[in-house]
Amino acid sequence: MVIFGATGDLAHSKLIPALFSLFKQGKLPEDFFVIGFARREFSDEDFQNLFSPKEKQWEEFASHLSYQQGEFQDKNGYEELIDKLNSIDKKMGACITRFFYLATPPQNYEVILDFLSSSKLSEGCGQGSNKWTRIIIEKPFGKDLETSIALDKKLSHIFEEKQIFRVDHYLGKETVQNMLAFRFANGIFEPVWNKNFIDHVQITFAEKEGIKDRGKFFDGLGTLRDVGQNHLMQLIAGVAMESPKSFTKEDLRDARAKVIGSLRLDTEVIRGQYKSYKKEKDIDKNSKTETFVATKLFVETERFKGVPFYFRAGKKMQKNLVEISVVFIQTCHILFKEYGCPEIGNVITFRIQPDEGISLRFIAKKPGGKLSLHPVNMDFSYKEGFGTKGLEAYEKILIDIFSGDQMLFNRSDELASSWKLITKVLKNWETEDKVLTYDDNSWGPKEAEDLIKKDGRSWIV
Ligand code: BG6
Repeated sequence: MVIFGATGDLAHSKLIPALFSLFKQGKLPEDFFVIGFARREFSDEDFQNLFSPKEKQWEEFASHLSYQQGEFQDKNGYEELIDKLNSIDKKMGACITRFFYLATPPQNYEVILDFLSSSKLSEGCGQGSNKWTRIIIEKPFGKDLETSIALDKKLSHIFEEKQIFRVDHYLGKETVQNMLAFRFANGIFEPVWNKNFIDHVQITFAEKEGIKDRGKFFDGLGTLRDVGQNHLMQLIAGVAMESPKSFTKEDLRDARAKVIGSLRLDTEVIRGQYKSYKKEKDIDKNSKTETFVATKLFVETERFKGVPFYFRAGKKMQKNLVEISVVFIQTCHILFKEYGCPEIGNVITFRIQPDEGISLRFIAKKPGGKLSLHPVNMDFSYKEGFGTKGLEAYEKILIDIFSGDQMLFNRSDELASSWKLITKVLKNWETEDKVLTYDDNSWGPKEAEDLIKKDGRSWIV
């Protein structure tokens, strides 16, 4: 695997740790080679020391890591890379499958793809036949509809669809995958999973951290592109998709694409920026980049017509919490009218993180002589239920890439639909300046509360 941008944040915080973890679990083959490709003048050892967790098996794992210095826009690095890869093939006496992982800032994708193509690296050692290589491309996939289509076109000139892995790591999260099992493997939920029973859906994607030292990546990009265009869309797809025809790659991708293609924005998108944002490293002092978004969407399908989906996503929020709540219509039975019914009744919450799990809120009689009704929770926690949280998202993503399974990767039509929606918002933003500020460690601007309140509802957390 060649990781372009190997000294960057993604490699550091996700890819190398995921590879190391797979290694410790014995899920990597005996012979594997990871080559970091980046600009800095590093030796193999410098590269290995960049990570170096103080763990027993690290040294053994690190012996599989090497480094190739190169500028993305200069052919020298690629030529040396070819030599390196050829010598590996020679050593192994075989054509080893090559995985090219684009983990650089997205502005480098095109030039790297051009070089992969012109140097024939894209073809692997079985020149002329493409089956020895795969390309893995991280989000953001383009910065609007037009650039995403252009990027896809370039990709498909160089690689066949079966070689292309467009990553959205939320699809690799156990809890996101479990939404399907929950909905379709349990007969009791599906009959009520529709507009006749569901009042609304709400999604909170809150991160306590600010942008840390990812200023260069984040400024100008913003939360809508960073998580709205991808992770949030996939969470909505998990709740709202129709049952796929079969549990196969194309049927699942069809079901996801259909939901994303049927989304309609109902109102403006609130954008906010946390107060200390402009003091962060590498941030333009006049930056209008949003670190928070909130809005209301509708899924225009028979099943969900008229059910609002509210979402809010932000950095520097009060706590780390990603969850989706399906709030059912509250019907207070006539029996209990005079005793008072809680305002919110049944809610199913998928907790993506932390403490991955699912809870069902229902109403119970509070112990005591007098009748009084109170909401309580029935809780399932992954850790307690299975004694493990399962694989980390990037571990799952990598395993699927190695085995060539594209089910949990984006297809172009999913991306095009979500970019269509998001690009409209971005276009509106070009002509208006309204970025609200919000206190660090809060729940975002007050307008996000008003968004849901004015419909007579409220955020559950
Ligand atoms: C990434 C975004 O895709 O997802 C980050 O670029 C965000 O800004 C991250 O913090 C959240 O992922 P996770 O797995 O930590 O919830």
